[in-house]
Amino acid sequence: MNKTLQRKKVTTMSELPQHLGKTVRIGSLEIALFHLANGEVRAIENRCPHKGGVLAEGMISGEHVFCPMHDWKINIFDGNVQSPDRGCVKTFEIEIDNDDVYIILNNE
Ligand code: FES
Repeated sequence: MNKTLQRKKVTTMSELPQHLGKTVRIGSLEIALFHLANGEVRAIENRCPHKGGVLAEGMISGEHVFCPMHDWKINIFDGNVQSPDRGCVKTFEIEIDNDDVYIILNNE
């Protein structure tokens, strides 16, 4: 099956405060964007695998976000929930073009 990559503009860097998460939507897909202290931007599915907490509202610390509901710790680079909890969220590739922030979607 062919893979097609789709690039969708979701926000701009000027609308993306550092250290805070932001929720963006592409159709029914909800994504949490994080603008890290080192300037990098990361994107993960905006739904905690535990009970659906909104991860964009979580606290960021280094490479992790803490779910605002019950404090599960999730790596925002690979989407893995940290021990002793288990699970993972989807991660998305990001492209920054001038001030524009794009999510790369992989449609198979
Ligand atoms: S919903 Fe995220 S830790 Fe419970």
